[in-house]
Amino acid sequence: MALAWSNKLSVGNAIIDSEHRNLMVMVNSIEATFKAGDGSALSQELEQVEYWLCAHFQNEERIAAAVGFDFASNKLEHQNLLREFHRMRDELHTLHGAWSDKVAKKYYQYLCDWITNHVIEEDMLMKPVLKAHEYNFCG
Ligand SMILES: [Fe+2]
Ligand SMILES: [Fe+2]
Repeated sequence: MALAWSNKLSVGNAIIDSEHRNLMVMVNSIEATFKAGDGSALSQELEQVEYWLCAHFQNEERIAAAVGFDFASNKLEHQNLLREFHRMRDELHTLHGAWSDKVAKKYYQYLCDWITNHVIEEDMLMKPVLKAHEYNFCG
C-alpha cells in the first residue's frame, strides 16, 4: 500500500514535515521500479532516497539542537536505519533486477514501514518541544 502523509504524522515543524512528505513520495515512486524489475533504475532511485535521507537527518538534528531536544536516541536510530538501508541496497544490487514479485513486495513494504515507524516512534517525540516554537521555525 502506498505511503500517504497525513496531519497525524506532523511533528509540528514545517521543514521536517515537508521532508518526511518528500521521502514518502520518493519511496512510493520506487514501487513501480520494483514491479518492473529494473535493477539500474532502482539503484539510481535508492541513491536519490539516500541523499535526501542524509540531508533530512542532518536538518532534523540541527533543528532538535536549536530547540534543546535530546536527540541521542533519534540519532542512534538514524545510524541503524542507514545501516539497514545499505544492507538492503547491497542485497538488491546483487540481484540485478532479477527478483520475484514476493521479494519486491517485501522490500517495498520494508521501506514503507521503516520510514513510517521512525516518524511515529522517534520523530514524534520531538513534537511537544517543537510545538513551543513557530511551525516555520528553521533553527
Ligand atoms: Fe529522525
Ligand atoms: Fe525524520
